[in-house]
Amino acid sequence: MIPFSPPPIDEEIIAEISDTIRSGWWTTGPKTKLFEKQITAYIGCDTTLCLNSATAGMELVLRWFGVKKGDEVILPAYTYSATANVVMHCGAIPVMVDVGDDFNISLKAIKKAITPKTKVIIAVDIAGYPCDYNEIVALIESEKSRFVPDNEVQKKLGRILFLSDAAHAFGAKYGNKMVGTTADFNVFSFHAVKNLPTAEGGAVCINLSKVFDVNEIYKSLNRASLHGQSKDALEKSKGVSWRYDILEPGYKCNMTDIHSSIGIVLLKKYDQFLAERKSIFDEYLCAFKNEKWAILPPVKDDLKETSYHIFMLRIAGISENQRDQIIDYIFSNGVSVNVHFQPLPLLSAYKNEGYLISDYPNAYKNYACEITLPVFVGLTKEQMIKVIDVVKKSVAHILSA
Ligand SMILES: Cc1ncc(COP(=O)(O)O)c(C=O)c1O
Repeated sequence: MIPFSPPPIDEEIIAEISDTIRSGWWTTGPKTKLFEKQITAYIGCDTTLCLNSATAGMELVLRWFGVKKGDEVILPAYTYSATANVVMHCGAIPVMVDVGDDFNISLKAIKKAITPKTKVIIAVDIAGYPCDYNEIVALIESEKSRFVPDNEVQKKLGRILFLSDAAHAFGAKYGNKMVGTTADFNVFSFHAVKNLPTAEGGAVCINLSKVFDVNEIYKSLNRASLHGQSKDALEKSKGVSWRYDILEPGYKCNMTDIHSSIGIVLLKKYDQFLAERKSIFDEYLCAFKNEKWAILPPVKDDLKETSYHIFMLRIAGISENQRDQIIDYIFSNGVSVNVHFQPLPLLSAYKNEGYLISDYPNAYKNYACEITLPVFVGLTKEQMIKVIDVVKKSVAHILSA
């Protein structure tokens, strides 16, 4: 069976984790601080905070901005549940909008959805393909006069906050910039199946130095990730005073040094990983480009380049049921594939809130015919040939039935 996305296991990772274990510093400490600095240098953002997940990062950002009951946060209907759940945790309303043919949030739909209650726009770089950053920034700027601040932070920013759910997009490029420098906050995921896996993990890249002291934002988010404690474990170990205070009822979502150890090793190899993922994409693109039924995913244009995270193939003209049959056939022929994503209005938690899939025709259209193919470091040429072969055979089998 060809797996879908196994992690890139190597001896250097095992050695680095062993080193951390032997050091005695297992929780957030010197390696996490080093990993944060290395991410900041790689991405070119103002500063970076590492956490136990992207989900936690997005929620801390919303809490920092004071998002609360009655506020509206615009996000795409086509995403993973994390994007909407963090909004609901704050008591705010996820205003779901439709997406374009590239799977990403539609600018036109955002425009229509903005109201004086809009506090944040969360865009998602689906599959690692960047959303329309420049256009969203310009739209937020043009909507400044309608923004109604509710607290000091919102007053100081004076506009809608731009949060990018860049969970898939580590290493993606936008113009001459890295995704990670392209919104007020870009949040990456280091979950086990992501491009840069640390088992579980995430990073918040902060880009607000024009308006705020970003070190203060870092400190505030870091404190919120550790129960609101005035000193973290590393600080306490250095200082003469053991005494600490709890400044707010915070959360518990810090990244450990054991997880950072994996990230430190993988980040050193990351450009090589990206090149390998790109060559897998190239192989698939070339293999499917002449198939009449194939809708190929967006990868690169003059402005954007994907992080080559997941290969989202669409089969033109098929029903959701036929797609599922094709997937079954692919599996029975020894290849693991997946679907990204079920649009949120198809899922109970959101359906129960009144969201209707019929309001998101593009999201449904993209989803119903989508199959995600295996892409991972170490996928061999023979395996790629098998994937291509099995997919073509499976599509032909179901379409001829
Ligand atoms: C689009 C998107 N956003 C957010 C997340 C959440 O990431 P994490 O598991 O690191 O919280 C995921 C995870 O799969 C995702 O796909």
